[in-house]
Amino acid sequence: MPGKKSLFALLVLFVLIPSFLFPQIYSENYKQQQNDVMPYPRNMVINRGLPFEVNNEFSATSAIGASKKLTLAINDFSEKISRKTGIVINEENKFNSKSAGLLVYAENESPAGIITDESYTVEVTQYRIILKAKTDIGALRGLQTILQLVQFANGKYYIPACRISDTPRFPWRGLMMDVSRHFMPVEVIKRNIDGMAAVKLNVLHLHLADNQGFRVECKTFPKLHGLGSDGNYLTQEQIKDIIKYANDRGIRVVPEFDIPGHSTAWFVGYPEYASAPGPYEIERHFGVFDPCFDPTKESTYEFFDKFFGEMSALFNDEYIHIGGDENEGKQWDANADIQAFMKKNGFASNHELQAYFNKRIQKILEKYGKKMIGWDEIFSENLPKDIVIHSWRGKESMVKAAQLGYASILSSGYYIDLCQSVFDHYFNDPLPSDIYLTSEEKKFIYGGEATMWAELVNPDNVDSRIWPRAAAIAEVLWSGIKSFSEDSLENKFILYRRFDNASKFLNEIGVKHQSNRKLLLAKITDKPELLENILKVWEPLKYYNRHKYTKYSQSTPLNRAVDIAVPDAPLSFEFSYLVGRIITDKAEKEEIESGIKTIKELEKTCGEYLREKQNGNIEEIEILAEKTKSLCSVINGLLYCLQNKTRYGEESVNFDYYRQPTAELELTLVNPAEELYKFIERRGHIK
Ligand code: ACM
Repeated sequence: MPGKKSLFALLVLFVLIPSFLFPQIYSENYKQQQNDVMPYPRNMVINRGLPFEVNNEFSATSAIGASKKLTLAINDFSEKISRKTGIVINEENKFNSKSAGLLVYAENESPAGIITDESYTVEVTQYRIILKAKTDIGALRGLQTILQLVQFANGKYYIPACRISDTPRFPWRGLMMDVSRHFMPVEVIKRNIDGMAAVKLNVLHLHLADNQGFRVECKTFPKLHGLGSDGNYLTQEQIKDIIKYANDRGIRVVPEFDIPGHSTAWFVGYPEYASAPGPYEIERHFGVFDPCFDPTKESTYEFFDKFFGEMSALFNDEYIHIGGDENEGKQWDANADIQAFMKKNGFASNHELQAYFNKRIQKILEKYGKKMIGWDEIFSENLPKDIVIHSWRGKESMVKAAQLGYASILSSGYYIDLCQSVFDHYFNDPLPSDIYLTSEEKKFIYGGEATMWAELVNPDNVDSRIWPRAAAIAEVLWSGIKSFSEDSLENKFILYRRFDNASKFLNEIGVKHQSNRKLLLAKITDKPELLENILKVWEPLKYYNRHKYTKYSQSTPLNRAVDIAVPDAPLSFEFSYLVGRIITDKAEKEEIESGIKTIKELEKTCGEYLREKQNGNIEEIEILAEKTKSLCSVINGLLYCLQNKTRYGEESVNFDYYRQPTAELELTLVNPAEELYKFIERRGHIK
């Protein structure tokens, strides 16, 4: 029986043939697909025995009674199997544990909580699938794994014979959705909860209030949502519905009310709690702003006592996130009463004043049975040990908190709004083997969260910024496969293919990261297929660089090519991979030929786009097409020389011209093209 290591060695052999170069081999490669499960289970052994065939006899049922959420999950599982395979689930077998193909044993019902046992085991033989878990939530996780194992080969659907024993590495595996800067309605949140469930993320952190909007109905202080949201807020009924939907999928919902800064929207209705007189308006732009709660007045704490009393009853999780980030305290500096208060109480800095505020808020939360979590700025040692530090400015705060006995979660390195490559997130492990922490201290690292800040996304494109990269983060937090920890070209190739498969799976289960792009493309061009192909080599500018080119506000339409393009542009990795193989002398003749074909097709696509003039504001897309076409021509020349061992005609190519951002996008072919050029130059094949 192959162990995990030898299985991976085998996998490496199987998948080193690039999929885009040899699509027929790729699709027929039945064996490799079983390794596409994401997150990869902690222990999975594929047996040599015959696989389980999913056919019209199939049904799934619970063996020992099931909680409501497990019943829902088994039904949902059956529906998804049915839709994927086209089989009609056998209704007669459905509740018959003797004949059911999948039998689920879950010992206990468990609420979605931080100490929930999520472990499970699966055994698949040709006759039956047995899923066992201590809790119904563990069973839910197992069902998601089995669903991803279904594969098609030789005209039939199978689940490979295997044995899995799985349990998460970290208990807190989150996705933060910012619904303040751009409002996200219920259906957007729900379909992203589906995505979370599919990859075993278990905390939905809702960033509900910021300068740009207060997004939850508050009955005690109705001007919060009434004046702070333009009418775009979640009612309490909707919040309850979201919580139920998430909890039914074993997912907690942690609300964030960011205070004392990031709070302009609160003051539109209640300026009396701010540190400077109003009036205030909802902030339309993005950045760090001055409005800030006045921490020196007792009335502020009376307000928060009532506010958190109401919100503690609405949200059922034991944690409430108080934000606490990026408060520069400018309103505090300018307020004589606040300065006098600081002096009287011996507060030497704004940080000390904020620590006083945090402590008061923490007491209020405690009164309502809640624990506090906040961004790393909230840290001060006089806080009780049950708080959680949310590390975003770097891993140091996570390490420091753990050393001092405080729990923490990591988001530094998981900012999916910054449009970095999936590899950047994947190789950002909260607990790499060389981390300087004792085994006791390591227990304080609860996990991490992908953060989807919403300055530059709206309901149309938010899915494509979250997925599939959040699936990669989910894998780091669930299993963190050590075999992939080395950042090599070969490992990246395997990962790339696995991310691509995760993306397809997420598409199947209803996340709209692919389908919404098609709708957006059709909105901005009459030739959506052509533009889609051109954008396969363009990625949005990373980090905060887009803000250098456009002064974004809530009313910017977000309907440009850059809003449709995605990080990890489909052809960019594949071209880098090809060049990587060429310059290490590994590329076969066929690979180079196939590369030439792909680049030629792209050049042709650009030509077609440019020939048929478009309506509307598409000037910037024409520039993208021109630039792509021109670089494709250079690359083709280079690949031709390589293949035919001739000289490249141009003395120099101005790669910097191609590297310049265009329409807030970057052309991903440039760096590998330059590497290729230098390689050919080294061989003396440049004129
Ligand atoms: C943050 O990104 N300001 C937490």
